[in-house]
Amino acid sequence: MSKRWNVYVTRMLPQPAIDLLKEYCDVEINPDDQVLSHEELLTKVKGRDAVLCLLTDTIDDEVFAAAGSQCKLFANYAVGFNNVDVEAATKRGVMISNTPDVLTDATADLAWTLLFSVARRVVESDKYLRDGKFQGWGPMLLLGRDITGKTLGVIGTGRIGGNFAKKAKGFEMKILYNDVTPNPQFEAETGGVYVDKETLLKTADFISVHVPLLPSTRHLISTNEFKLMKPTAILINTSRGPVVDEKALVYALQTNEIWGAGLDVFENEPAVEPRLLECENAVLLPHVASATIDTRTNMGLIAVRNILAAMQGAVPPTLVNIEVLRAKESNKA
Ligand SMILES: NC(=O)c1ccc[n+]([C@@H]2O[C@H](COP(=O)([O-])OP(=O)(O)OC[C@H]3O[C@@H](n4cnc5c(N)ncnc54)[C@H](O)[C@@H]3O)[C@@H](O)[C@H]2O)c1
Repeated sequence: MSKRWNVYVTRMLPQPAIDLLKEYCDVEINPDDQVLSHEELLTKVKGRDAVLCLLTDTIDDEVFAAAGSQCKLFANYAVGFNNVDVEAATKRGVMISNTPDVLTDATADLAWTLLFSVARRVVESDKYLRDGKFQGWGPMLLLGRDITGKTLGVIGTGRIGGNFAKKAKGFEMKILYNDVTPNPQFEAETGGVYVDKETLLKTADFISVHVPLLPSTRHLISTNEFKLMKPTAILINTSRGPVVDEKALVYALQTNEIWGAGLDVFENEPAVEPRLLECENAVLLPHVASATIDTRTNMGLIAVRNILAAMQGAVPPTLVNIEVLRAKESNKA
């Protein structure tokens, strides 16, 4: 039997995940339902064997140094890991894991929720009614845009982009996609057609972004991209905020360069560009794409299983930096 690990959890998670972790490890959890300051994080990670962290924690080399050389794994409670300096972790021999797959459906579903909400002006209509403005059915009241039979543009066709596109079948949509290379599996599953980014932006009625945040995807959608879009286009972003240039988006929304936008993520969360809040043609959600009870529980269970695997000397099932193990192997040889 392996020795019980000492694990720090940076914020309370669904109970089944905590229960599983406590069965095998000594666990301390941040008791406050808020993000730790960097200083608090540096203190709390000290001496741990593993840390279960969140996308709101900045995990940089200073954190790895503070944790100490005995620390073997940071299990990130998200599929995206742009909050973690993976290169620094690998240099120090620290494993990083994430939580792919279990949040794919929930995130794709929320992208559809946003698409419908913007196209059919759901939030505006609800507010209109609650404000007591509803005087009866009107031929010109709150007209939106059709969805069935329209063209969907998907940028990034990995797990979530692929799942999102498959769900378009019932709406008989034509699918265009862009990725770093053509994706035959995506084409087979969705009937999607590979086009360059410019063609996609010019042609699609709905553009949904599903890329990771990388240096190459920061402001992937900015002033020039909005200029290419149709005035009737709707942009959906459930990936990461900095993928869309928020100031350029505000300009496009205010000048009706595009019809609307649905956003789950923002450039400087939790801050939101103030002028965006004034845009009635935008639906804005507080980063809740994976926020279902089942999904958040499963994300917790995956994060914990990564910790337990590492504790037993096995390869964590969703290890991000496999190079760390190769480096250890070559050091042994
Ligand atoms: N809003 C949320 O709560 C939430 C939830 C889950 C995931 N996400 C975000 O969604 C992202 C995607 O998740 P996934 O599981 O589908 O990842 P994935 O790795 O399976 O897919 C990403 C796809 O983007 C493509 N890509 C990379 N750079 C590109 C570029 N420059 N242009 C076009 N395509 C590019 C990749 O080739 C890949 O096909 C995550 O990295 C995460 O940041 C957000």
